[in-house]
Amino acid sequence: MSDAVMHGGVAESVLGPAPIYNDAVVKKFVIASIFWAIVAFLVGVWIATELTWPAANLGLSWINFGRLRPVHTSAAIFAFGGSALFGTSFFVVQRTCRARLWGGEALANFVFWGYQFFIVMAALSYVMGFSQSKEYAEPEWHIDLWLTVVWVCYLLIYVGTLIKRQEPHIYVANWFYLAFIVTVAMLHIVNNMALPISLYAAKSYSVYSGVQDALVQWWYGHNAVGFFLTAGFLGMMYYFIPKAAGRPVYSYRLSIVHFWTLIFLYIWAGPHHLHWTALPDWTQTLGMAFSIMLWMPSWGGMINGIMTLSGAWDKLRTDPGLRFSVTAVGFYGMSTFEGPVMSVRDVNALSHYTDWTIGHVHSGALGWVAFIVFGALYYLVPVLWHRQRLYSTKLVAWHYWIATLGIVLYIVSMWVAGIMQGLMWRAYDQYGFLQYSFVESVVAVHPFYVIRLLGGVFFLSGALIMVYNFYRTITSPTTEAPQAMRPAPIAAPAGAFGVAGE
Ligand code: HEM
Ligand code: HEM
Repeated sequence: MSDAVMHGGVAESVLGPAPIYNDAVVKKFVIASIFWAIVAFLVGVWIATELTWPAANLGLSWINFGRLRPVHTSAAIFAFGGSALFGTSFFVVQRTCRARLWGGEALANFVFWGYQFFIVMAALSYVMGFSQSKEYAEPEWHIDLWLTVVWVCYLLIYVGTLIKRQEPHIYVANWFYLAFIVTVAMLHIVNNMALPISLYAAKSYSVYSGVQDALVQWWYGHNAVGFFLTAGFLGMMYYFIPKAAGRPVYSYRLSIVHFWTLIFLYIWAGPHHLHWTALPDWTQTLGMAFSIMLWMPSWGGMINGIMTLSGAWDKLRTDPGLRFSVTAVGFYGMSTFEGPVMSVRDVNALSHYTDWTIGHVHSGALGWVAFIVFGALYYLVPVLWHRQRLYSTKLVAWHYWIATLGIVLYIVSMWVAGIMQGLMWRAYDQYGFLQYSFVESVVAVHPFYVIRLLGGVFFLSGALIMVYNFYRTITSPTTEAPQAMRPAPIAAPAGAFGVAGE
């Protein structure tokens, strides 16, 4: 693809003037994502404190660990990650389709406020003690119904925009975003099938029971990882890394292979959460086999993301925002290597119930999810608020190093604590008795909980630096023509595979 096409110069003369995009809703989601990031990290630090010193719950039921934990997971995944996914998907679909969002201002605003309302309702219900007791699907039935309405509107806007696109090709990032939207809708509806005890009570019973309930829940839970925490963020990777690096995707063909193999394999891997349970053995083996196969597309995607920088590695020195995105892809590779290993039944016998799982979760959550979002935000904020550059790239570098150190402290301490717990729980003495009581294992992990807490504080401090940097960027004088007035980008490969850019 020629440079002119890549940079949009030819695009305008060939395809006519660019439409004015709906960036107002994108901005709202960006602000929401930043706000929820701080809330999620703060609550994460708080529950890490409670695990280290339980008295930190101050004897108040509404901030005890059991209630705040789902506030943390939902704030991190659905509020911070979700708002970033909504915002970036709306930004990307408009640019790569050369079309304004379908459905008008009102529908987009309904999706924004409706989703924020869902988050607030869910969080309030947790602290008040209401829960379906299904991890990552804790909200009761009336909140679930509300989310279904909002989500269908989101899908309509997305598909509507794709249909009215002015580009012949649907750029690969949109495929990932669409897989995220469609699959999450399916997971949400199937896993939340429940019978309320009355129209007014926030209490319902799942239509599934016993091991079937567990299987449906972990089919949901694992695919929440695969489609919420992975597919949507891969959409982000496929758009923002080429944009920030000024290079086309390393291999467009590989991105398509990545997409189809990932969505085909992920959906079967859920049973690896139920090893050594009443679930039939063959089902556990199926989950394990598909998890191991998942390693290949995941690493294909990682290589594609990282190699997109070939010829532009120097940008890492001058663009610390891009550093976040590339490091994120590295962590994606790391957690998608660790996951298949943990899915092997005998490894899982050691790792399950231990902090090893928590280490794995946060290498994905902090290293991959949060970092890829930070990279996208550092790209988006100056563009959306029409500023030539960020207030300070030095502060971005500070954020990067503090957050990276935080992740290392978090995940290494959890690996050590987890493997130690696993080994202590299975150690026998010469008489065949358990060598350690459970309390001894709790005492043994205490220093590592302190280190994890420190890691969390570092990660939160880095994010606060980011907020300050954005505040100063947004309040500085306007320095650029509105993005929407500039020529629209070209996103699709011009006939041949192997190139994509703008
Ligand atoms: C400052 C940053 C963070 C800190 C200090 C933190 C801390 C914690 C703590 C203490 C737990 C409970 C662990 C346990 O039950 O033993 C937890 C669980 C969890 N966190 Fe975080 N977290 C942070 C950021 C994030 C982010 C950004 C995400 C997602 C994008 C996330 C996703 C999760 C998930 C999914 C769990 C549940 C894990 C499981 O059940 O296996 N966290 N976090
Ligand atoms: C090839 C990719 C992956 C595979 C095969 C995989 C596999 C696994 C396995 C085997 C477990 C432990 C299950 C248990 O013992 O209960 C697990 C837990 C988890 N993984 Fe992964 N993982 C992958 C990638 C990721 C990524 C990229 C993320 C985050 C962004 C992630 C987030 C989680 C979470 C949140 C849990 C904890 C679930 C819970 O028990 O609450 N995983 N994963």
